[in-house]
Amino acid sequence: MKIANYRHIALSYDQGRPLSEQNIDLWLRLVARFSKMSEGARVLDLGCGTGRFSIPMVSKLRFHVTGADSSEEMLGKAREKDTGRLVKWDLEDAQHLTYPDESFNIIFMSHLLHHVDDPTRVLSECRRVLVTPGVILIRYGAIEQIRDDVEHMFFPEVRGIDEARTPTVATVEKWLAEANFHEIASEEVVQKTFETGEEHLNMARLKGTSVLTMISPEAFEKGIHDLTSYIEDNPDDPWLLHDRITLTVGCKFDVKA
Ligand SMILES: C[S@@+](CC[C@H](N)C(=O)[O-])C[C@H]1O[C@@H](n2cnc3c(N)ncnc32)[C@H](O)[C@@H]1O
Repeated sequence: MKIANYRHIALSYDQGRPLSEQNIDLWLRLVARFSKMSEGARVLDLGCGTGRFSIPMVSKLRFHVTGADSSEEMLGKAREKDTGRLVKWDLEDAQHLTYPDESFNIIFMSHLLHHVDDPTRVLSECRRVLVTPGVILIRYGAIEQIRDDVEHMFFPEVRGIDEARTPTVATVEKWLAEANFHEIASEEVVQKTFETGEEHLNMARLKGTSVLTMISPEAFEKGIHDLTSYIEDNPDDPWLLHDRITLTVGCKFDVKA
C-alpha cells in the first residue's frame, strides 16, 4: 500500500486542512450525542495528527484526552498548539497499542483507517483498550462519498490510490461487527469546509489532502491548472465548498461473543 509521509505533511497540515470553529462544534456535538458521555470521560483520539479534535475535546467537552499518533512530527505540531498542556500526547502505532486493557471510555478516530495496513487489527486493539461499556467513533470519507469530489475529479491519479485503500461505509460497519462491536450505526455529515473556491484551491496547492502528496508532480500541476480554470468559470459552485463525511459508531458491551 502507498503510504502518506506525515513527516513532511506535518509542516502545512493545519493550513491545508482548515477546520472552522463551527465545524469543530458540529463534530463535538456528534461525539457527545453518540457517546452519551459527559465531563471526565477518558478519550483516546487515535491518529490524532496535530490535535485538531483532541484539544477542543478537552477545552469544550471537558473530557480527559490522550492523543496518539505514529508520526513524531504531527505530534510535535500538536504539542506546540497545546500551550495549556490539556492533552497527553503519545507516540503509538494504532495496530499495536501499548495501553492496558480497558483504559478508555471513548475512542475517536478521524481519517485514520485508510492509512493503516490492517484496519481490522486497529479495531480489535480499540476494543481491547475500551472499557465495558465503551464507544468507538470513526470519522472518515468513505469511498462512495469521495470518489466524485474535487480532488478525485481534477487529480485522476488520486482515484487509483483511494479506490485501493478507502473503505465503504458498509465495509467499516462489517469490520466493527467482526471486531465484536454492537449497535453499529452511521451518519453522513455534509461539512462546509471552505468559504470560497479560491480557499479550496489554496488548500490543494498546499496538498492539505495527503493523497495529493502521493501523485506525480506532473499530475499535480495539471490538476492545479485545471482546477484554477474551473474556479474562474464557476466561482460559486457549492461542490467546491463541501465535504461528505461519515461518522460510524459502535459499542462494546459485556456480551459473550
Ligand atoms: C489524515 S491525518 C488525520 C489527523 C487527525 N485525526 C485529523 O483528523 O486532523 C492521519 C493521521 O494518522 C496518522 N497515522 C497513520 N498511520 C498510523 C498508525 N498506524 N498509527 C497511528 N497513527 C497513524 C498519521 O500520522 C496522521 O497524523
